[in-house]
Amino acid sequence: MSDAAQGGNELMDKLVALCKRRGFIFQSSEIYGGIGGFWDYGPLGVELKRNIKNAWWEDIVSKRDDIVGLDCSIIMNPKVWVASGHIEGFFDSMVDCKECKSRFRADHLFGVSISSDSDNPPQAVVTIVASSEEQARRLVEQNWRSIKRKHRLRDDHHLHSYCWLDETEFFTKKSNCPNCGQYGTLTNPRDFNLMFKTHYGAMENSSTLTYLRPETAQGIFANYKNVLDTSRMKLPFGIAQIGKAFRNEINPRNYTFRSREFEQMEIEFFCRLDEADKWYEYWRDARFRWYVDHGLTSEKLHLRNHGAAELAHYARACADVEYEFPFGVSELEGIANRTDFDLKAHQEHSGRDLRYFDDRIKERFIPYVIEPSGGVDRAALAFLCEAYTEDEAPDEKGNPKPRTVMKFHPRLAPTKVAVFPLVKKDGMPEIARKIYHEAQSAGLAAFYDEKGAVGRRYRRQDEAGTPFCVTVDGQTLQDQSVTVRDRNSLRQERIAAGRVVDFVRQRITG
Ligand code: GAP
Repeated sequence: MSDAAQGGNELMDKLVALCKRRGFIFQSSEIYGGIGGFWDYGPLGVELKRNIKNAWWEDIVSKRDDIVGLDCSIIMNPKVWVASGHIEGFFDSMVDCKECKSRFRADHLFGVSISSDSDNPPQAVVTIVASSEEQARRLVEQNWRSIKRKHRLRDDHHLHSYCWLDETEFFTKKSNCPNCGQYGTLTNPRDFNLMFKTHYGAMENSSTLTYLRPETAQGIFANYKNVLDTSRMKLPFGIAQIGKAFRNEINPRNYTFRSREFEQMEIEFFCRLDEADKWYEYWRDARFRWYVDHGLTSEKLHLRNHGAAELAHYARACADVEYEFPFGVSELEGIANRTDFDLKAHQEHSGRDLRYFDDRIKERFIPYVIEPSGGVDRAALAFLCEAYTEDEAPDEKGNPKPRTVMKFHPRLAPTKVAVFPLVKKDGMPEIARKIYHEAQSAGLAAFYDEKGAVGRRYRRQDEAGTPFCVTVDGQTLQDQSVTVRDRNSLRQERIAAGRVVDFVRQRITG
């Protein structure tokens, strides 16, 4: 295993353990053995997620004149999914093993052969089903950890090269099953629709069949005319929505990264055809910057423009904001110029006139759409990965001691300020509680803690990612000043107890 891959595994294991220990993320229905692809957010995790969604909503909807919000139902008329193309085309190709009955995504199937000679460490050559060399490279890199596990490669096996085959070539060669290792037991790929099915009403038949939405975007398109008629928005304008989406992923994996239930933050930004390229570039750059502004400042954040071969048939341009997770580089958000494809499809299938009337030029037309589409859970995972830091902080006696600290951007931190009395006597708890209540009343997520040595209390807050800890001590009783400790720099400064709320608020808003 390369040093980077090994480091990635270790970091991921530590992060998952911290998320469970501190109440960020739990496995869904854990007391019953869990359920693959579903996750629950604990007390700290739910605050982190809410802060991400609130920051997005404030920046995208509240602070702009040209975007309005929407909240659509999860279950919609199934005709929506016919028009959107999801019933016909929202598939993953899957392959079954006739022997052990395991099921795999066809594009995640790898053939591996090992070459070794006495002079070199053993090397693996990976064969993968993919539609392009670029896709093959990314899949191999993203899946190197699971390839090694499934093919029982040793730590000193290095990736030598990969080759890619289309599905027909791959299955003619009849590879081994990645699970049981049997040769020639894999079926040819079959299409598997990723939408969760359900029924509405009392009858369970084909007339009541519908789906849990696989994206929030189609609810926006279906309501485009309602919003236009009621809000009097003029082009260019956008509609934004945050909400749950469901995909019956064949292989949910990499913690919350690929889940079966997740939340999306999507904007459909409608504009004139001749302005679409300009707005596409605007949103691509603005969305990238948003992640940087909220703490993904390292070289791990990338913006990747899709090549022509990667574009969906209806898209004119597409870019991904990607993050280098410990398990590989993967997409956080996609920004696409979807042309007039979706509105035209809904106009055709619904029979409603969805054209926009431009009264400046007295023309009716279907607008173009730029779509920035991000995942809340993936953003949360990236912020968690980036925040995770191991360093040293002085203990009670001033000796350096290792600490784990979550260096969240203050706007996203679950708790903004923790307040401690140095000791549980001499009126210190009363003063500390007063400051704590003042912070709460001012809308700051605050935490009060009087248990254990103050050094331990600092460390607990470091793991939770709290940017400021306020301590009431002996000097407070004389001059009403308190110490404020900065999580990142560990610097302590004294300020007046009455200034705590302003001090913290100023630093959160910048
Ligand atoms: N309306 C366009 C659309 O849904 P997408 O690339 O399929 O595009 C957009 O999804 C975003 O939703 C992704 O960038 C990702 O952040 C999130 N997402 C998609 N599938 C996901 C999954 N299985 N688990 C978690 N997040 C997912």
